[in-house]
Amino acid sequence: MKIIEIVADRNYRVVVGANALDEIKAITALHRRVLLIAPSNLIKSFKIKESKNLSIIGTPSGESQKNIRVLESVWRKCSAIGLERSDAIIGFGGGATTDLAGFAAATWLRGVDWYAIPTSLAGMVDAAIGGKTGINAQSGKNLIGSFYSPSGVFIDIKYLSKLPNRDLSAGLAEVIKCGFISDYKILNLVQDDVLDFEKLISRAVKVKANVVAKDFKESRIREVLNYGHTLGHAIEKDSKYKLRHGEAVSIGMVYAAELSRELLGLADEIVELHRVLLGNLNLPTSYPKSRWSSLVDLLLKDKKVKQGKVRFIGLSKIGKPVWLEDVPSSTLTKVYERITK
Ligand code: GLY
Repeated sequence: MKIIEIVADRNYRVVVGANALDEIKAITALHRRVLLIAPSNLIKSFKIKESKNLSIIGTPSGESQKNIRVLESVWRKCSAIGLERSDAIIGFGGGATTDLAGFAAATWLRGVDWYAIPTSLAGMVDAAIGGKTGINAQSGKNLIGSFYSPSGVFIDIKYLSKLPNRDLSAGLAEVIKCGFISDYKILNLVQDDVLDFEKLISRAVKVKANVVAKDFKESRIREVLNYGHTLGHAIEKDSKYKLRHGEAVSIGMVYAAELSRELLGLADEIVELHRVLLGNLNLPTSYPKSRWSSLVDLLLKDKKVKQGKVRFIGLSKIGKPVWLEDVPSSTLTKVYERITK
């Protein structure tokens, strides 16, 4: 078991190697009343049952639960069970569930305690860490939300064995991102024949913890976590979400590495290392040439655009992220050619 301390608006621990069902019991014992939010299929498959002070609400699975109607049903449940200020919410599921649960906790009675028990790798290393909570708006992903830290995050790596390889690889893209922006040892560990998930998750969480401690509300430093995400978000949207977030970020990281080679002199072998590590996990590293004009439109609508300028995080070397804020569109187009298929 590994414990990582997160310093943010409130300090809390991430326990890697916890037992999820034991943690649910322990949290329930700590509070007068607890509401557990989880996708209905997870509640069924893990046979989680309500008890005197544990109430449960089932949600749809995936991104469709990050929706105002689902949130409203959570608020109604909070009201029906009389959830008070000293009570708590648990988000048990993938990143979409912990985002929803965190936002429900941030908004109910202007804030109640909440705990995250992520069950997807992407949730364990990214969504559940760092206190970003929220739902999607009609006009875009994660546009409604709040920075609101949980009181604890409990990672039960047993759940990883239940995940399809595609989801594991998509989660590993975020782990590899942490390797490139900060912790080169991760880049060695992901090449092992048998992956040590406890170690990989702990190291990735530590990278995120360090960044969040410096800049909880993303005024600037936290943007390094967006390595690969500028083009990645556009690709995710362009694919109509057929690509997983991590898959789109994988392509986005290769693009960011290529931009870094062009503008920051990032070494050829580091750019190649992106393709090798991501490709070994069957993650995509290229995108159709014909999609560029649509991607440009999407890039201009991104949250990361400031005063009409698209912003990228690049690398001058492993562990040295650099802000690329005013890249000429001709350079963006030229570099895109290098990642097309
Ligand atoms: N997913 C990036 C962040 O939490 O800032």
